Amino acid sequence: MEKKIFIKTFGCQMNEYDSNRIYDSVKKIGFKKTDKHEEASCYILNTCHIRDKAKEKVYHEVGRVKKLYRKKNKPILIVAGCVAQAENEEMLKREPYIDVVIGPQSYHKINEILENFKEKKRKEEIDFDTIQKFEYFDKIKNTSNKVSSFLTVQEGCDKFCHFCVVPFTRGPEYSRPFSKIINEAEDLIKNGVKEITLIGQNVNAYHHEENSKIYKISNLINELEKFSELERIRYTTSHPRDMTDDLIDCYSTSKKLMPFLHLPIQSGSNKILKLMNRKHTVEQYLDVFNKLKKINSSIELSSDFIIAYPGETEEDYNDTIQLIKKIKFINSFSFIFSPRPGTRASELKLIDDEISNDRLKNLQKILFFQQMEMNKSFQNKSVDVLVENEIKEQNKLFGRNKYLNSVIFKGDKKNIGKTIKVKIDSCNQNSLFGIIDHNNMRAA
Ligand code: SAM
Ligand code: SF4
Ligand code: F3S
Repeated sequence: MEKKIFIKTFGCQMNEYDSNRIYDSVKKIGFKKTDKHEEASCYILNTCHIRDKAKEKVYHEVGRVKKLYRKKNKPILIVAGCVAQAENEEMLKREPYIDVVIGPQSYHKINEILENFKEKKRKEEIDFDTIQKFEYFDKIKNTSNKVSSFLTVQEGCDKFCHFCVVPFTRGPEYSRPFSKIINEAEDLIKNGVKEITLIGQNVNAYHHEENSKIYKISNLINELEKFSELERIRYTTSHPRDMTDDLIDCYSTSKKLMPFLHLPIQSGSNKILKLMNRKHTVEQYLDVFNKLKKINSSIELSSDFIIAYPGETEEDYNDTIQLIKKIKFINSFSFIFSPRPGTRASELKLIDDEISNDRLKNLQKILFFQQMEMNKSFQNKSVDVLVENEIKEQNKLFGRNKYLNSVIFKGDKKNIGKTIKVKIDSCNQNSLFGIIDHNNMRAA
């Protein structure tokens, strides 16, 4: 019987990258990727533990798989990702339908696990073996040929913000060797990739010593700049403390680095930032913002906000609102604080639900208004769009402008992979709509 694998991916870009690398790995032992979730012989749930009832959601997903395969051969069911790391053998004990639990640093063992799999020997792999993981994947070509692809350069986190589970699920900070990253980028570009987003939990903390030279993320950007067929460079997610001057300078030296930066601040109150153990102040954040704007006034920021962190007063909350109005973030994520098991903040007294919900609602209203204002500013202008794919149901093309806005328009498939000008005629909160600008008007 043909071996087919389906991976359902939750959470951040790191998981998306890992899922693709797992596909690349299991191909070597005869597994074919399928997009049909009901026909897999191996079914992987690549999970996220960052907020809310993450663990319960996984059991719920397992229930759905069980139902789906009730009248079929049971697939090997693997729970991977950050919930797997946090919950480990507990999952095998609680849910007999799960065959394997594997944490993000053990994916180099995936082929071995699948080849030796026997139903009666359920298994759990949760070591923090980041070096081995990447050494293993360095030997397997990254086959991603998406116009825009992720490339993991760094994994794990040593910052221990008091609310965050990542240091416990992804382990200590590790940066991949510079030369291996560039080799992988070269492969991606040969596959036709036009935009590379360097990713890591703290991507701008990237730091690797090779042949007595220290390489930082600015070195990676400068090296990628040299590939003539690569058109765009991005990186995410950054920590404000690691926005060093050499990285900020890249915005003046690089022609390919996009003028849009996701830089989470979490709160506009220094008191709350301290309670969160964020290791930066609002003033330091504003300093980075001002330096970037001085280099290029068209640079825009997006951010993450945690609302109703324990101890947040009305005044702290208003400081966050003031900061949002000052920076005019063009697109951001905001969440009510969610206590995560094992983190310092999980023991703290929660803010009343009603207050939390009101604060989030009001803050999102402001963020969405700003986002809409930015989107409207593109109307009647031509924007450079890197065309990523076709939306078959709508018979339209999908691409992104330099600020990562989705742009949807009519056009020929031959434009996929090209940067073309699209004249924007309308927008909603999430997307811009337009037509190809054959007159080649000035790009916004
Ligand atoms: N490393 C990034 C940084 O330091 O900004 C963030 C990575 S985290 C995967 C993504 C976002 O999830 C965070 O910026 C934060 O806003 C949110 N988050 C993390 N833990 C949370 C929690 N316990 N409750 C609510 N939101 C949380
Ligand atoms: Fe989590 Fe803080 Fe590390 Fe970001 S810097 S991954 S929020 S601990
Ligand atoms: Fe979630 Fe793990 Fe990413 S907790 S946000 S999948 S690092």
